[in-house]
This record gives sequence, structure tokens and C-alpha cells, in this order.
Amino acid sequence: MKGVILAGGLGTRLFPLTKITNKHLLPVYDQPMIYYPIRTLVNAGIDDIMIVTGGRKSGDFLSLLGNGKDFGLGHLNYTYQEGEGGIAEALGLCAHWAKGEPVVVMLGDNLIERNIIEPVQAFRRQLAEEGQGAKILLKEVHDPQRFGVARLEGDHVAEIIEKPKDPPSNLAVIGIYMYDHRVWDIIGTLEPSERGELEITDVNNWYIRDGSLTYGVLEGWWTDAGTFESLYAATRRVAEGGANHVDDESAG
Ligand code: DAU
Repeated sequence: MKGVILAGGLGTRLFPLTKITNKHLLPVYDQPMIYYPIRTLVNAGIDDIMIVTGGRKSGDFLSLLGNGKDFGLGHLNYTYQEGEGGIAEALGLCAHWAKGEPVVVMLGDNLIERNIIEPVQAFRRQLAEEGQGAKILLKEVHDPQRFGVARLEGDHVAEIIEKPKDPPSNLAVIGIYMYDHRVWDIIGTLEPSERGELEITDVNNWYIRDGSLTYGVLEGWWTDAGTFESLYAATRRVAEGGANHVDDESAG
């Protein structure tokens, strides 16, 4: 299974912090933001990783991460997104590298308290048994308007709505997505949304219509770090108890 970390975009919600650097290089307590998603994938046994960067300071990712030695990796892959065409556009830039293979995608500004070992294993089983499909992770939040939000019907996700004014639930779709090999062709069929981006929510809704999207509920805290409030919340949470725990005891 390949892994992709999306660290493009302009990070305008964090201006002026992002005026001279890429958002994912900013500190979250004692480490650069990008360290956390890399650690999440590595902890789940994913060691073939592509990082999508962007902006004028994208070269700094190489200086910071090199070949991933700090994470026990022997190699890291990098690619470059021009502008801010959306999460699905950024993922599509990895097609040449991963085409034909399933992938776990993580947004570069998402942090978790624990790990995704169990959901990734469940997705591997899903692929082995069904041959195809996708998996997303949900988390209850108090401000669903900020996220993609799931509408559940019985035991399945009936629809995902991106930043709804009137959310159908308080279950946010977190920025960790698992896709079968078809994702690379699905991205090619997307049209830009009203905000001019290729939306990951449209990819997820494709799998819902296909009847092959499963979901799990993430245990432990989850936060993005793309606004001043969430960056502060992420810093506080990491300072208080750390992130990316792999043993149940320390995860609490
Ligand atoms: O954090 C989870 C949420 O992330 C989901 O609930 C939403 O469904 C999803 O659309 C996304 O919402 P945001 O508005 O928070 O996404 P944002 O534009 O902040 O982008 C998140 C990360 O994706 C960012 O840290 C870098 C990457 N990205 C984003 C864009 C727009 C790229 O690599 N390229 C891009 O063009």
C-alpha cells in the first residue's frame, strides 16, 4: 500500500505565518507539522510515501526531511503542485507514481492522538475480500460546518457534504482517506467545484454511489492545524500528551 501526504496549497488562513514558508513546515509544539502525518503513516506500516508540496519554499521539505531517515525510512518521494487546485488535484499528481495501486492519503495539516493501524488493516481486508472500495474515517466534532460532513443512513454513509451550512450530523470526515486503484481514474473525471477546486469529497461521493465506501470512527483526538484556532489547539494537545501513540496504555 502506498502513502501520500498532501502538503501543497497556500495556507492563506494562516497569513502572515505562511507568507514566507509553507504551512506544513510551521511548528506544532516541538516538531514541524509535516512530521505528524508522516509518523501516522509509518506507524501504520506504510513506508512508500509521496509528499506533494507547493509554493516558493517547497525546496525546504528536502532540506528538512531528506530521505526520511528520522522516520526510519530509506527513501521519500516528492512532487510539486502549482497553485491551489484542490486536494483531489494534488492527489492526482501522484497518479504517474502510484497508478494501479491502492493508497492511503493523509492531509499534511491533520494530527491524531493515536494511530490508524486497525483501520488500515480493515481496509486491506476489504480489498482482499471485495477486490475494491474505499474507506474514510469520521470523528464527532462541535463545529461540523468547517469540514466535510457525513449523512448516515442505517449503517452506511449515504452522502458527504462539503462545509454544509446546515450539517446533517456532527460527524466530520477527517483528512485520512483509503482508496483502491480506481481512484486515479476517478480524479480524471472530476470538475472544479464552485470554489474552483477538485474536491476530495467528490471522490468520496463517487465511492458512495458505487456502493463500495466503508467508514470507521477514529479513536482519540483528531485536529487539523490550518487555522489559528486549530493550530493552537493542536499545539496544546501535543504539549499535553503527545500525538501518534501506538500503544493503548499511553493513548488513554
Ligand atoms: O481536515 C479535514 C477536512 O479537510 C475535510 O473534512 C474536508 O472535507 C476537506 O475538504 C479538507 O477541508 P479544508 O478546507 O480544511 O482543506 P484545506 O484547503 O485546508 O486543505 C487541507 C490540506 O490539503 C492542506 O493542509 C494541504 C492540502 N492541499 C489543499 C489544497 C486546497 C493541497 O495539497 N493542495 C491544495 O490545492
